[in-house]
Amino acid sequence: MKYTKNFYQIRSNAHILAQLKKEQETVGYYKLPFADTSEIKRFAQGVTQKTIAVLGIGGSSLGSSAIYDFLKRKYHFGKTLLFFESTDPVDIKDKLDRIDPDDTFFIIISKSGTTVETISIFKYLSSTINFHAGNTAVISGTGTPLHHFADAEKIPFFELQQNVGGRFSVFSVVGLLPLAIIGVDIDNMLRGAQKVYQGFFEREKIYEMLMEKARFFVENKNRFRINVLFSYSSSLEGFNKWYVQLWAESLGKRNINGTRQGLTPLGLIGPVDQHSFLQLIMEGVRDKTVTFIKVADFEEQLIIPPQTPIPKLEYLEGISFSRLIALQADATIEAIDAEGDIPYDVITIDKVDEYNIAELMYSYELLTSIIGAFLQINTYDQPGVEAGKIILKRKLGA
Ligand code: PA5
Repeated sequence: MKYTKNFYQIRSNAHILAQLKKEQETVGYYKLPFADTSEIKRFAQGVTQKTIAVLGIGGSSLGSSAIYDFLKRKYHFGKTLLFFESTDPVDIKDKLDRIDPDDTFFIIISKSGTTVETISIFKYLSSTINFHAGNTAVISGTGTPLHHFADAEKIPFFELQQNVGGRFSVFSVVGLLPLAIIGVDIDNMLRGAQKVYQGFFEREKIYEMLMEKARFFVENKNRFRINVLFSYSSSLEGFNKWYVQLWAESLGKRNINGTRQGLTPLGLIGPVDQHSFLQLIMEGVRDKTVTFIKVADFEEQLIIPPQTPIPKLEYLEGISFSRLIALQADATIEAIDAEGDIPYDVITIDKVDEYNIAELMYSYELLTSIIGAFLQINTYDQPGVEAGKIILKRKLGA
């Protein structure tokens, strides 16, 4: 009798921690929060243009866009950040109409330097805009076509190191440069990420929290395939998009045994999606976990005045919107809790600032790495997106 086995092995937390420590020798994102930012800050100070246009897609834009989105309503930056991501001609035209090319600084970001969306937009803009050292910076890998272009035109070039994947690059120059230029305190931002790194690798509370959560997701992945992020702030819409990319592109893989893996990410915004998707969570198939994200202090005292002339719902009068949205989140959480069979957790961010969003994003990067390690997949590649790219190139006659 012959016997071979191919059982899926659930690893211990200690094994996963050791793997993540070892990964740091080859995976560059872990240590990004500890890098020296002086060159980025010095460069950022020299940029005088009012609009900063980022040309980039996926990991090259979603991270900085998420942080900008989170902060912009509160910080009222003196500069505007605009993202050219899509090949949608109406979108390109609309964005072009909104900028003054003479008062715009362009940051072309592509690690590969060959991404169709970024390069086609760049080519189009170059027909009317003169890209030069005074209005452009390039972020790319070394030796890419974009790098050569920057060198030839003497345009400032910032290297994105090979071992940092796009979707894990928010704390590299990819995220830091545009954010520093518009005035974000990038050092404070990195401090938020450092705190999570230290807490995790020194096995503090955040270690227990992330391990327990990852383990639950992995052990129940066939039952709860969908992970809903229910963010109670309009400012977290960009974060939701970033999370969806991080989760989907990192975890949707075949594992070392060729078995298909993946958890499906979904981003909702409260209270808006209480009036849509919540019904499916409450009464639909029990295949979802829900993570609520709340902001403890919006630092915005907008109060519904007492004794308004509008009849009914008088109980709304005299309360602040900060309190109202918190109560709405709590009411939804309580309703889900009462169902008894919907796994959920609640993350509360102290306030809207760069430190807090960085803490959140770095902890999600770690969570993704932990789950990837449990699933025994390569979290950092994306072979599944290559097929479409090859077909597109053929269609384009490349
Ligand atoms: O996470 C990733 O690797 C991708 O989402 C990339 O960031 C995206 O495809 C853009 O690639 P590039 O930076 O090479 O233009």
